Amino acid sequence: MLARLRCCLFALGAPGLGGEPPLRGPVRLMETHCSRKIRPVRDTLRRVKVKENRRQGELNGPSSVYVQVVGAGSRDSGASLYVFSEYNRYLFNCGEGTQRLMQEHKMKIARLDNIFLTRMSWETVGGLSGMILTLKDTGVPQCVLSGPPQLEKYLQAIRVFSGQLEDIKLAVRPYTEPQYKDDTMTVSQVPLFSEAGRCSPGSGRSSSQKGALRRQDVLEESQSLSASPEGKEKVTRDSSLVVAYVCKLHSKKGNFLVLKAKEMGLPVGTAAIGPIIEALKAGKTVTHDGKEIRPEELCTPADPGPVFIVVDCPSEDFIQPLCTNHILQRHQTGGSEDSAALVVHMTPESVLDTDQYKSWMERFPSSTEHLVMNEQTFTPHNTRSHKLQTQLNLIHPEIFPPLKLYKTKEPRASLRTPNIRAECLMKFQLRPKLEWQRDAIPSCDSEEFVKEAAEVPNFFEEVEECRKFQTAESISTSGEKFPEIVFLGTGSSLPMKIRNVSGTLVNIRLLNNNLEFISRMLFIALLTFLSVLSSAQGLIHLLLERERALNSLGKAFSPVYLIAPVQIMTWLNQYHDHCQQILSQINIIPSKFLCDGAEIPTVETKSFIQAVLKKNDLLKFQTCYVRHCKNAFACSLTHQSGWQLVFSGDTMPCDAVVNIGKNATLLIHEATLEDGMEEEACEKRHSTTSQAIGIGMKMNAEFIVLNHFSQRYAKIPLFSDDFNSKVGISFDHMRIRFGDFPMLPRLIRPLKALFAEEIEEMEERRERREMKKTAEPPSNGESGTSRQPEETNRVTKREQDDLNREAAIKRLKTN
Ligand SMILES: *[C@@H]1O[C@H](CO)[C@@H](O)[C@H](O)[C@H]1NC(C)=O
Ligand SMILES: *[C@@H]1O[C@H](CO)[C@@H](O)[C@H](O)[C@H]1NC(C)=O
Repeated sequence: MLARLRCCLFALGAPGLGGEPPLRGPVRLMETHCSRKIRPVRDTLRRVKVKENRRQGELNGPSSVYVQVVGAGSRDSGASLYVFSEYNRYLFNCGEGTQRLMQEHKMKIARLDNIFLTRMSWETVGGLSGMILTLKDTGVPQCVLSGPPQLEKYLQAIRVFSGQLEDIKLAVRPYTEPQYKDDTMTVSQVPLFSEAGRCSPGSGRSSSQKGALRRQDVLEESQSLSASPEGKEKVTRDSSLVVAYVCKLHSKKGNFLVLKAKEMGLPVGTAAIGPIIEALKAGKTVTHDGKEIRPEELCTPADPGPVFIVVDCPSEDFIQPLCTNHILQRHQTGGSEDSAALVVHMTPESVLDTDQYKSWMERFPSSTEHLVMNEQTFTPHNTRSHKLQTQLNLIHPEIFPPLKLYKTKEPRASLRTPNIRAECLMKFQLRPKLEWQRDAIPSCDSEEFVKEAAEVPNFFEEVEECRKFQTAESISTSGEKFPEIVFLGTGSSLPMKIRNVSGTLVNIRLLNNNLEFISRMLFIALLTFLSVLSSAQGLIHLLLERERALNSLGKAFSPVYLIAPVQIMTWLNQYHDHCQQILSQINIIPSKFLCDGAEIPTVETKSFIQAVLKKNDLLKFQTCYVRHCKNAFACSLTHQSGWQLVFSGDTMPCDAVVNIGKNATLLIHEATLEDGMEEEACEKRHSTTSQAIGIGMKMNAEFIVLNHFSQRYAKIPLFSDDFNSKVGISFDHMRIRFGDFPMLPRLIRPLKALFAEEIEEMEERRERREMKKTAEPPSNGESGTSRQPEETNRVTKREQDDLNREAAIKRLKTN
């Protein structure tokens, strides 16, 4: 079995993978079995079991297995499934946000070394780079990705973000490889090719666009930075392929009935019982004390191993190949193999609703359960952020607007086959007993959240003070509605449950009155600024959603103006070549051409810049290099009506930012770490709270909003004495207008009341750190490496995780 596993692996930038000693998984497992302290009787049984395991390996399947929904298939949480057994963990699809959900809901990733992907698209692979970094930080030694062969190229492409990933071996097991088998199950990959056929890679609207894009000088520059030295990589993108998975758990022998055996006078508890159990379990009749004992008398029946199937049928083009597939047919009524216990349909309603698909579902026996994962899901996934927003909303209903779940308008298919709609964390247990389990589904009860906040000492009193201030100063919400600034994410490094990675939306004017959601998308639409390369992850999601929005509105397509470090094109080119068409959606303006005095090399770039200014009513859009990684920029935009907005991006305190932001209306500055951590901030090339405020004061900004907080301040950052009437802090989903400036500092008191416990905890941490600093001289070096043993509590662990993450990100940025 081990040998087979090894030869399925394709080493990917992981030299020596094939020549290393066999994987240690099963061996390690037995060690843990043996080392447990168990009472003597059970010990004997246990030893027999281990022996059986050794002899028959896969014949003794796992005793506890379930399939669990991670993302139910909504727009923000693409369909992904987690499968758990005591031996292995698996993930089916890993869209953006999967990792954040797993982190929030504490799903174990320690033995997650197999990820199965159904196709190449952002919904299925968008979260891979973050997931791989986390697996690596967790110490998972290797991870194998199964599915489309393009995954290999994709893994190369994400190294743009992740660096070289030396500590984790990555390999691809394309669908052409034979079945995969481990301690839990056998997995067969079933490729389905769409009727539309293999789209020739150069077809469609974007090919000519792409040609044009590639000719630009800017692209040549980025090409020379790309992984392939020749720069002319073959395009492998193939949207005509999806992969379905048939998974069969290993059979499991019946259980030996110890008590009954004792009653029958068998030598339970002595070494003599071993061979008897072994024989009975193997189905043999034994003779003990002259009495014949048949296996069914003392063993429960064997479980042959249920089958579950994961099917992704993204469009009608795949219905025919799916419904006529012979491998899948084997598990339907009258098929040659066990019929499926569970079929997971990652299938949109429009496809489910076709007669052909419905008939296919009906060809499974009535004992088969069907789980549907698509946008018809209305339960929140990120419960923690719903809770927080519900509570913040009590402080100020406009600045912290209620979170709305996106509801699809697509009608629900009328299926004749009974089915279950996916909800976050819903489980289907395959062993010991086939059954649905709903107990893990997170509850998201707003009333409960409000009640909890109401019980916080002083909270409502402080909120009341805030209201009084608002009335007294007659700060009305009827002032200028634009620009409107929406904080989409306010955290640093990786997305965590409360703070997503930093992103800020500026609505300069209203474009579409009645469709708020879509108008947002349309606006973002016009212009996107990326300060550093690593912030590019959300971009693809944005581009794809925008394309969808334009389509559904029947609007003409126009590319987004993307202002970003030119190196972004390495990633976008690779994504375009091997995953999905994307290049036609952007007009790139390399950030460096917007620096003061920069020479703009091409007529095209000049015209893009003119278009950006005109379409957004801007007088000026300026960038400057900042003190972070090599290609990091801040920017400043000046509107025709006079206001000026400055974004620092990721940076240490930087005078260039002061220079482009003189007298700005609003500065949004990163404040990754608290005061007192200047050394760490410097090491990571970020700012502390007071440094950020200092930059704002230096530029004479009318107001300063801090963002990009280290995930150690998940709920709230630590405040310093420098906070004054010109400073506010940001939260995810917070929405402000310039008229809110006087109100923002007033929010701090109710916030402090709401998060009093967290603040206290952080202050204690700070004290401990400061004590340590005075105790041992700084010569001892790097932060975070020398920790006292008594400090290994929950908080410290979290802090450590955070440092690991930040280290990973730092590598990524300097790469
Ligand atoms: C987190 O941010 C990313 C990238 O900006 C975005 O695509 C994703 O939808 C966000 N997730 C949530 C739950 O808001
Ligand atoms: C900023 O404002 C001050 C007065 O408020 C003025 O003296 C100064 O010239 C302004 N600077 C710029 C660059 O506009």
